[in-house]
Amino acid sequence: MSIRDKRLFLEDLTVSFDGFKALNNLTLYVEPGELLCVIGPNGAGKTTMMDVITGKTRPNAGKAWFGNEANLLQLTEAEIVAAGIARKFQKPTVFEQLTVEENLELALPGSKTFLAALRAVVTRSQQERIDEVLEITGLTEQRRLDARILAHGQKQWLEIGMLLMQNPELLLVDEPVAGMTPHEIERTAELLRSLAGEHSVVVVEHDMHFVRSIARRVVVLHEGQVIAEGDMDKVQKDPRVIEVYLGV
Ligand SMILES: Nc1ncnc2c1ncn2[C@@H]1O[C@H](COP(=O)(O)OP(=O)(O)O)[C@@H](O)[C@H]1O
Ligand SMILES: [Mg+2]
Repeated sequence: MSIRDKRLFLEDLTVSFDGFKALNNLTLYVEPGELLCVIGPNGAGKTTMMDVITGKTRPNAGKAWFGNEANLLQLTEAEIVAAGIARKFQKPTVFEQLTVEENLELALPGSKTFLAALRAVVTRSQQERIDEVLEITGLTEQRRLDARILAHGQKQWLEIGMLLMQNPELLLVDEPVAGMTPHEIERTAELLRSLAGEHSVVVVEHDMHFVRSIARRVVVLHEGQVIAEGDMDKVQKDPRVIEVYLGV
């Protein structure tokens, strides 16, 4: 398999914490424009995998490449962001006292200070990108509202919108629908599906109904390794997956 046709290339990754292997020879590829779901029991290594991709944790062994240009193991966390990898953590980190639109302005690319960014004049192309992201995230009507009054789901979409301001090639999303209403979950599924194609998206999630609604390909992690992969029907029938994860 050639490295060139993959967007993300993780091979034989091992991460040890005091001898305990959080990742154990993990090998996984992400295609350009793919929406990949990663599932697995607590402690399987899902968050550790994202930590390695984003440079927060360095593996003891293995390779991690972003396309064939960027060796992620040699880049700093900031360089990895600049290379086009964005990560959404579970807890939204929007600025509550600013409007939806101001939050997106602050997330425009460029290394300005907070105050400089707030005072900066938005160019026409930047405004177009803001309008586009408001549309994508379904927040156009809320653009002038303070983020603090948004519903939980809307805050999550705003944070995804802030990541989109950087136009990342790869978006990592950890448990996006935790705490959402069924309607918000459905909207989140639509949002992530609409991002695939343009971006590669890797979603870690426990909500199997949600995973089924978005994923073409699902990878199941257990004890730091891939134990199954394929479409949802295939992995749900896998005896090993039922034993360690779905059977409980
Ligand atoms: N910084 C750390 N120090 C020690 N152990 C850790 C650390 N981070 C994660 N682990 C352990 O590694 C394993 C995998 O954790 P994690 O990647 O968070 O799993 P998941 O996200 O799939 O629930 C767990 O057993 C966890 O306790
Ligand atoms: Mg986790």
